[in-house]
Amino acid sequence: MAFKELVFSGVQPTGNLHLGNYLGAITRFVALQARYDCIYCVVDMHAITVWQDPAELPKNTREVTAAFLACGIDPKRNIVFNQSQVAEHAELAWVFNCVARMGWLNRMTQFKEKAGKDRENASVGLYAYPTLMAADILAYRATHVPVGEDQKQHLELTRDIAQKFNNDFAVSIRDHGHGDVFFPLTEPLISGPATRVMSLRDGTKKMSKSDPSDYSRINLTDDADTIAQKIRKAKTDPEPLPSEPAGLKKRPEAENLLGIYAALADSTEEQALKQFAGAQFSTFKTALVDLAVAKLEPVAAEMKRLSADPGHVDEVLADGGARAQAIAAETMKAVKDIVGFVRR
Ligand code: TRP
Repeated sequence: MAFKELVFSGVQPTGNLHLGNYLGAITRFVALQARYDCIYCVVDMHAITVWQDPAELPKNTREVTAAFLACGIDPKRNIVFNQSQVAEHAELAWVFNCVARMGWLNRMTQFKEKAGKDRENASVGLYAYPTLMAADILAYRATHVPVGEDQKQHLELTRDIAQKFNNDFAVSIRDHGHGDVFFPLTEPLISGPATRVMSLRDGTKKMSKSDPSDYSRINLTDDADTIAQKIRKAKTDPEPLPSEPAGLKKRPEAENLLGIYAALADSTEEQALKQFAGAQFSTFKTALVDLAVAKLEPVAAEMKRLSADPGHVDEVLADGGARAQAIAAETMKAVKDIVGFVRR
């Protein structure tokens, strides 16, 4: 059976959106609008799998939403909402908790990383995180999900859940007139290597909101002076820039800055190197500052404007939440019939 093409993705509202989120996720979300119907979700229920200060969480939810809007996601043509407004996510996640196997979840590397050594003290929610993610996607029977490398395993689990549900309930799915398969096997849209943004202080570590040094990242709310300062202070090596990508091997900082330039310019490393072959970093960094400021300053300004108007952001979320729920409720009705729940 053919499913209607639909993109779904989620971003956690856990504070400090940075260049990595911008290049790795949000600009891709913006580009996908041209080809697909898209649903973009601020996943506040995923956020609370680790402790979130209740005074900060709503600010962070509104900030991610503001970033979506500031970067050009159109909430009229698409759907933008926060997860907790649509109770069907949690409802479907419960059914998926009963479809997914312990053995599957035990293999999830993100849980192992996030739970660390003190696994006994991790929340049950952190363990069940991937079944909620599957519910996010499959509540809309989404066919495509843009995610980073790190989420690939969760996408595979989503397919496993969809497949097992389709198999386990095959007879009931048919009996209720839903065809042969109820859930699609969702495809990941994985970003290329150029969008893996590393720390400005250490080219071997990912740019991260939790790095203690603010100089390791460019925040989406940074003003032009701050952006310039951070790029000028970014770690480099003493060599001039090479003429081909092979010359960036074993030069993680050079590769990272070049990759950032190429991604911001919407071009490739090859093309950027043609422009800067043999140049000193001082020259290259001046160009990078100009480009980064040109791209990011308008985003920061619009986010600032939106943060002064939380009423507008909340309206966008409420409108998106209502439209999302209309779809998710239909899915959930069918799932209840398929599973055998008596409903109104
Ligand atoms: N787990 C994703 C991340 O941390 C966020 C997420 C939650 C998500 N639900 C999703 C991404 C559904 C894509 C689709 O990046």
